[in-house]
Amino acid sequence: MAGYLSESDFVMVEEGFSTRDLLEELTRGVSRATTDEVAAFFVADLGAVVRKHFCFLKCLPRVRPFYAVKCNSSLGVLKVLAELGLGFSCFNKAEMELVQRIGVPASKIIYANPCKQIAQIKYAAKHGVQLLSFDNEVELAKVVKSYPSAKMVLCIATEDTHSLSRLSLKFGALLKSCRHLLENAKKSHMEVVGVSFHIGSGCPDPQAYAQSIAEARLVFEIGAELGHAMHILDLGGGFPGVEGTKVRFEEIASVINSALDLYFPEGCGVDILAELGRYYVTSAFTVAVSIVAKKEVLLDQPSREEENGSALRTFVYHLDDGVYGIFNSVLFDSICPTPILQKKPPMEQPLYSSSLWGPVADGRDCVAEGLWLPQLHIGDWLVFENMGAYTVGKGSLLGGTKTYHITYTMSRVAWEALRRQLLPVEQEEDAEGMCKPLSCGWEITDTLCVGPVFTPASIM
Ligand SMILES: Cc1ncc(COP(=O)(O)O)c(C=O)c1O
Repeated sequence: MAGYLSESDFVMVEEGFSTRDLLEELTRGVSRATTDEVAAFFVADLGAVVRKHFCFLKCLPRVRPFYAVKCNSSLGVLKVLAELGLGFSCFNKAEMELVQRIGVPASKIIYANPCKQIAQIKYAAKHGVQLLSFDNEVELAKVVKSYPSAKMVLCIATEDTHSLSRLSLKFGALLKSCRHLLENAKKSHMEVVGVSFHIGSGCPDPQAYAQSIAEARLVFEIGAELGHAMHILDLGGGFPGVEGTKVRFEEIASVINSALDLYFPEGCGVDILAELGRYYVTSAFTVAVSIVAKKEVLLDQPSREEENGSALRTFVYHLDDGVYGIFNSVLFDSICPTPILQKKPPMEQPLYSSSLWGPVADGRDCVAEGLWLPQLHIGDWLVFENMGAYTVGKGSLLGGTKTYHITYTMSRVAWEALRRQLLPVEQEEDAEGMCKPLSCGWEITDTLCVGPVFTPASIM
């Protein structure tokens, strides 16, 4: 163990004890205390992060994972990932400070923001963070002036028109500008050591990775021609964090492996990285949110025929968090959060059309509509799963400053796996399901090999 994480950082849970059990205990505690303020709180299963890591190593053995700190900068997550040996991709000074404060060496940090403040470039220089990304001439000139010994990674735009969240609208150089940028870097004596891209999140087509890998190959060729010793390919993020996405992680991994074999074969001297955010943390976090206000609205026109007339009544519930906070996936990923009722209602209770709203005085702060729920009461807790990405920490998408209470847990089996840094499959096969991470059907990856259809020649 490297010493980033210790047993005192989390609650060790035994087999059979679930996040839901813990949430039940915690919400009961809060309800009993009847404090005047209730706030949403999280339970984070660090064992789920460990399982994701083993799955990643198994499916993408040639790729060295970095964690995108902006996705969830909570300490438990950073510590467990540091313990697993990941590098960290930071977007700004605050993130670099955070990971350095827990002891991560500068050599394991990438400052992956193509549009940086000069003061923050100087911070990276002073603290030994050498890898910096760029995607335009002005940025290059800033780094030439403030940090001439930096090692630059050229961030290229991707074909992300079908991704739910498109990063290339904002970041990434077009292929046709790359030669010019590389020439400029050469003239300014700046070292360009690699290429990065991000296909956006919620991308429905894994071939987007293959296309970007092929394009990166082309940029490597140009770089070599101009005398840049390029040896880093950074595949970015965009890997799904939950089960049931249209494209599964295994399928993406298979496409990537085939593309790497074709364009960056083993032994080519290129270090392959990825900067994963949501993949690692989404499913590990569950949040409990309390109902703070409630309104009954009588409908003129019942929207659903019901014998007992319950369709005539509809309920509007207010929560202490909304789409400008932890439910920002409603705005950014068009995800409709589905609550789980902490207290199981009796079977015979009628269901009413219900909606959930956040605390902001804005008609867009609607967390969910069209739900059919039993009548709920002030102080009842709603539980939402898969809430680890872009919800807590400095990087929450809307730059929130709210801090949440997080209870970290880990099963003993996961802790042992982490301590021994052993792939769970190499341990007792079935212990607590550890060996078969939910989302990792690597047994089928052999049959999923889809050959990349792009060749560098077809691109330019
Ligand atoms: C440069 C960079 N790398 C990695 C990520 C992480 O992406 P994801 O959470 O989709 O894995 C982001 C997210 O915005 C990013 O901007």
